[in-house]
Amino acid sequence: MAVERTFSIIKPDAAARNLTGAINAMIEQAGLRIIAQKRVRIGRTEAETFYAVHRERPFFGELVDFMISGPVVVQVLQGENAIAKYRDLMGATDPSKAAAGTIRKTHAKSIGENSVHGSDAPDTAAKEIAQFFSGNEIVG
Ligand code: CDP
Ligand code: MG
Repeated sequence: MAVERTFSIIKPDAAARNLTGAINAMIEQAGLRIIAQKRVRIGRTEAETFYAVHRERPFFGELVDFMISGPVVVQVLQGENAIAKYRDLMGATDPSKAAAGTIRKTHAKSIGENSVHGSDAPDTAAKEIAQFFSGNEIVG
């Protein structure tokens, strides 16, 4: 296994409910290190770029509206097998289908307002990290 980096967002529903610390504790307990983090407001164009792969999906408009509805916390996570490890920790997209102990089962409100984002592959992780962080903001 290789040490990887993945991109995470604590989404507006979770940031608004003051769950940043609770989610960070789950991340650290899973063996991932938070090597960059900042609280930001995402702009509409930025959200549309970030989720461009979903542009044709029926939920795209709602997704963008949600992601710009309030502050988020963007992060870079590092660890062995970080991309798959964080996807496992997040749980299924629909929290009603997520396994016990996952972030989404524990905290998510719905399939849309599902508390966290995590990259799904090395190429998307690199692209997503570069959209939100410059090199000197990441301290591994
Ligand atoms: O976030 P994840 O990779 O698990 O799911 P996705 O299929 O890449 O979808 C991206 C995001 O769109 C989800 O996390 C949800 O916030 C939203 N979504 C939705 O609102 N309704 C759906 N049927 C599917 C996804
Ligand atoms: Mg996805």
